[in-house]
Amino acid sequence: MIILGIETSCDETALCLLEVNDKEEYKVLGNIVLSQIKIHEQYGGVFPMVAKREHAKHLVPLLEQLMKESDIPTTDVSNPNASEVVTGLLQEFESDLLGNLLSSSLVSKQPIIDRIAVTHGPGLEPTLWVGVNFAKALHMTWNVPVVTVNHMEGHILSPLVEPRTDQSIHEFKKLPQIPLPALSLLISGGHTELVSIEAVGSYSIIGSTRDDAVGEAFDKVARMLGLPYPGGPQVSMLAMKARKENLPNVIDLPRPMIASKDFDFSFSGLKTSVLYALKELPSPLPEASMAALCREFEDAVTDVLVSKTKKALDKHVPKSLIIGGGVIANMHIRQSFEKLAKEFGIPLLLPHNHLTGDNALMIALAGYYSKVATNISDIKATGNLSL
Ligand code: KG4
Ligand code: ZN
Repeated sequence: MIILGIETSCDETALCLLEVNDKEEYKVLGNIVLSQIKIHEQYGGVFPMVAKREHAKHLVPLLEQLMKESDIPTTDVSNPNASEVVTGLLQEFESDLLGNLLSSSLVSKQPIIDRIAVTHGPGLEPTLWVGVNFAKALHMTWNVPVVTVNHMEGHILSPLVEPRTDQSIHEFKKLPQIPLPALSLLISGGHTELVSIEAVGSYSIIGSTRDDAVGEAFDKVARMLGLPYPGGPQVSMLAMKARKENLPNVIDLPRPMIASKDFDFSFSGLKTSVLYALKELPSPLPEASMAALCREFEDAVTDVLVSKTKKALDKHVPKSLIIGGGVIANMHIRQSFEKLAKEFGIPLLLPHNHLTGDNALMIALAGYYSKVATNISDIKATGNLSL
């Protein structure tokens, strides 16, 4: 089966062609992520309407590029009236996306694929709609079924695959099985969730953040320190410097909700504590103090994440631990969870360095596991979609 994955939930325009054979072996035919970071950097965060415009501008040329790079066989489009269909859609919904589609090779040649998997939530609703509308328009021109994917399920499954390399393009690789039941901690810019997994597709959220997501807290702290967006990587780089140089601590931060009996989190108070700390510390803050503050913030976040996950491991006794989402790019958090999994004697499934952030490979993979072909007229974007 060949799956086209489409991901537009935030500020990455991502497309992937994934092949899975009947022995459950996979090959990444092509995988493209176009980041909008440089555009949003000037605003200090993602502007949904700007992100939407960028997705609409790039999806069609990126898909043409992906098809070329992956060398996927093509055929004449199934719908002989494809151009008329897209022209009709364009008259109804004026958009760059449809205009680009109409003037592209995609209305005459289609890749030979079995399904289209598209993220329909959670995320920014205006940007999600661009991907969803693209999938619908392709369905109408190519007559290929569409399956919708929950972005967070993509992050859960992301550790199962490796990105494409020049060698891997020539061979299939076994898709590993998740030792079940599993526990997953999802840490991204919009989510902090502990998820109990009975089977692929069967998830229950056992704890989540009551306010800010952990990635959001990293980004907000970075902004207070005058660091560019997205702040997570910047804060973690400074924290790493403080660890390496053994810089003295400048402030003690709280570990919010670490002792609460549930599996919930709260990070907005921690962010406020950083704000108060900055008022006490000299301004402008010397770089060494800034690095030490970043390390203390990273330690506070890590302590809470590890402690809550430990509590969930104790109670649910899963056979594996999966961590997904952009924040698991953080080396200190990665290493802390490696230690925790060792302590419990269970395998830890972490995404490859290139797949921690948003990508369409994880969406195509989740689309492979989705057994139900979704009715096209029911498909819509849902910003607050839950697992
Ligand atoms: O999963 P993701 O790419 O997008 C969402 O679905 O939200 O996660 C993005 C988040 C951002 O908040 C970013 O600052 C954070 O992941 N992040 C990090 C690191 N790299 C990315 N946070 C901490 N340390 C990092 N190294
Ligand atoms: Zn994400």
